[in-house]
Order: sequence, then structure tokens, then C-alpha cells
Amino acid sequence: MPFIECRQLVKAYSVSGHEIVALRGIDFEMERGEMVAIIGPSGAGKSSLLNLLGGLDIPTAGQLVVDGQNLLALKGRHLTQYRLQQVGFIWQQVERNLFAHRSALGNVILPMMLAGVPFWQRRKRAQDLLETVGMSEHMRKHPAQLSGGQQQRVAIAIALANEPKILLADEPTGALDRQNARQVMSLIGELRERYHLSVLMVTHDMEVARYADRILTLRDGSLGQDLTHDDTADLLVDEHGNVQLPEQARIKLHAAPTFAVEIRPEGVLLRPEIEELDGKTTLHDFQDAPPPKRASFLSRLFGRKSSPNGKGA
Ligand SMILES: Nc1ncnc2c1ncn2[C@@H]1O[C@H](COP(=O)(O)OP(=O)(O)OP(=O)(O)O)[C@@H](O)[C@H]1O
Ligand SMILES: [Mg+2]
Repeated sequence: MPFIECRQLVKAYSVSGHEIVALRGIDFEMERGEMVAIIGPSGAGKSSLLNLLGGLDIPTAGQLVVDGQNLLALKGRHLTQYRLQQVGFIWQQVERNLFAHRSALGNVILPMMLAGVPFWQRRKRAQDLLETVGMSEHMRKHPAQLSGGQQQRVAIAIALANEPKILLADEPTGALDRQNARQVMSLIGELRERYHLSVLMVTHDMEVARYADRILTLRDGSLGQDLTHDDTADLLVDEHGNVQLPEQARIKLHAAPTFAVEIRPEGVLLRPEIEELDGKTTLHDFQDAPPPKRASFLSRLFGRKSSPNGKGA
């Protein structure tokens, strides 16, 4: 039995008499210890899915089973316990992760207080967690005295305070620069191994998504392609301009020391510069690529069929 199982999961919101369907029958499974990234455009239903998994909201229809518990049947005290003890959240917005008037230590202690962890245990556990995320030196500081990256480290410690089995992260690096985003992702990766956490993460950033075992796409409330191993996947461009290229194309691009980006009326061409002939750089012609994949990749990159010489024009 999978650790997380969604079957035909539907979420509809009612706004002034109108129904907005955010999730249209999601089928999805996750194993214990797995890390899955969900990418998709704004309004696709990504946060709605996390909210359901975290017990913050109730599905309109379908099944949602986590670690053998049917979330649709959990009510009141049991649902609160699930939220406090089974899942940890990290949000993009600092103010959602941290209370401004509490120190880093006070913030990590808080979820343990709510879960009824005895006084003598919670302080020690909070200190240990802050040490684990590299924030021992800053545990007396308040959020305003910490950098964005440091705040997200504290947020991770808070999320893990009650030893959850699942970490749900909604754009955890969305407010961070590249370097801090990488550090936060490495940390999440380490902690996932150490605590055998299942991590479900929403991101717009393809570089961040690559830390996951699987990358799923969500569009208009439906799960689409698994981008992880699919050579012919539709290309998605994240907000930083990163593109997940098919494996075939990555191999080709790695073979070239540099490549140029050429914007043409029919699309964007990534042109590996591997040869100088008569002062002109020639395009690596993808000749040794198997024909079907080559056609598929180029046609998707340019939005139409490429010419046989691979120049796409
Ligand atoms: N509480 C709510 N009440 C009404 N409609 C909502 C609510 N939350 C989300 N929606 C709607 O449901 C749809 C999916 O929203 P959701 O927040 O899940 O998208 P998202 O993929 O997380 O987008 P983003 O990348 O912008 O965060 C949107 O049309 C949104 O307007
Ligand atoms: Mg969202």
C-alpha cells in the first residue's frame, strides 16, 4: 500500500455562488521517503493539493489516504493531531512560517507546546533541531534579525519540530536567491534522508524541482506528464528561464563547450558552438540522435517540425 494515495481527488471552492474547481480528479501515489516536486502554472491547483494533504482543507470528493489514515474521515481533535504531528509545512512567505515576536528558539518550541510535548523535552529538541539546520548561533534572534535563507532554515526546524513523516513545502525557495535556494534544498535533501521523510514540494523553479525523485506537472487541476524520465516531455520554462531539456538534448549540449541562444521567429534555438568552419560557427547537427526522438525534441523546441539538417529553420 502506498504511503500517500489520492484517488479521484476533487477540490471545488464556492465563491459568491460560483464554483471554482481547483482539482479535477487527481490520482497520485507516493512512497514513504520519496521526494516529489509539483510544477505548474499559477492557479493550477498546486497549493490546493498541498492544503488537502496537510489536512488544512477538506476535499470535495475522492479519496485521500495517508499512512493508512483516511483523511476524509478525520474530524476535530484527530484532524488537529494529524496536522500537528504527521505533517510539517514550509511556506514561501516568512510571515506564514515564523511569528515575528518570538525568537527562532521560541518559534521552534511553539508547535511542540501545541502538541503537548513536555517542557523539559521541547527546549532540548528545539535546540537540537536548530543546530541541525545550522542556526545554533542565531537561536535567540527574532525573524527580522535573520536573512531570508536563515529564516527558511528556522522554518525547516519548525516544520520538523513534532517529528512529522511528511514535509509539505509550497515554494520553499521562492523568496530566496540562487545560492540560498541551493543551500535550503540541500538541507531538505539531507533531512529527508536522516528522518526518512516523504517530501512533497511545489515550485516554479526547475533547478529546485531537480532535487526531487519525481517531477510532476499540474495544469488546470489535473496531473499531467511526469517529467522525470520522459525524453519527449513538453518543455516547461520556469520563472528564472530554466528549461528542463530532454535527456537526449542534455547529452548533446554537454558535448559542446559553449552554446548560443538564438531567438528566431519560429522559436528559440540552443546552438552548440563546437566547430569553426570558414569563420562561421556551425550547428551541431544532432546526426547521431535516433530519428524519432530528434524530430520530437526539435519540433517541441521550435513548435513545428525541424528541417533534416537540424537547423530548425
Ligand atoms: N480559498 C479559496 N477560495 C476560492 N478559490 C480558491 C481558494 N484557493 C484557491 N482558489 C482557486 O483555486 C484555483 C487553484 O488555486 P491554487 O492556489 O491551488 O493554485 P496554485 O497552483 O497554488 O497557484 P500559484 O502558483 O499562483 O500559487 C485558483 O483558480 C484559485 O483562484
Ligand atoms: Mg500556490
